[in-house]
Amino acid sequence: MALLPIIIAPDPRLKQIAAPVARVDDQVRQLMDDLLETMYQAPGIGLAAPQVGVLKRVIVVDASAKDEERAPLCMANPELIEVSDEDAHYEEGCLSLPEHYAEVVRPIRIRVRYLDHENEIRELDAEELLATCIQHEMDHLEGILFVDHLSALKRNMILRKLTKAKKADKTPDKIPTGAPVAAE
Ligand code: NI
Repeated sequence: MALLPIIIAPDPRLKQIAAPVARVDDQVRQLMDDLLETMYQAPGIGLAAPQVGVLKRVIVVDASAKDEERAPLCMANPELIEVSDEDAHYEEGCLSLPEHYAEVVRPIRIRVRYLDHENEIRELDAEELLATCIQHEMDHLEGILFVDHLSALKRNMILRKLTKAKKADKTPDKIPTGAPVAAE
């Protein structure tokens, strides 16, 4: 397993549409494992392949509470097959937009179909935080960031701050690109 460098917004690589995987083979499994390791190390509760520069429809999430056992979910080609009319409001953040948070409204319950770590087709009913997290990560596969759900005013304010932070920092990505970095 390896830690992967996370791309920080604004970056055109975060605005691309990711391609489906044909099947979850060893290469995709490796990507899932690396995404999980990178997510836990960050730490975060979700990560999508485009955030590490891989344009494949692969996401990982773990919305378990800190004092609970880990509950990692690996999903390839996730599809929403049901969404509730009722909405949830959650304060969202993103490893690609560090230190910025804003309330986003999304369906409170979803049913998602995906290929799991073993290439099995699964369906999962999720609600509340887990549903929000899955939808947030699925957005990344369409090149959509949580700030795209906000007003242009709020979005531009956050993106301007991130651009400024990048300019001030000679290494824009938190983890340098290249060789895997050892966990702290
Ligand atoms: Ni994100």
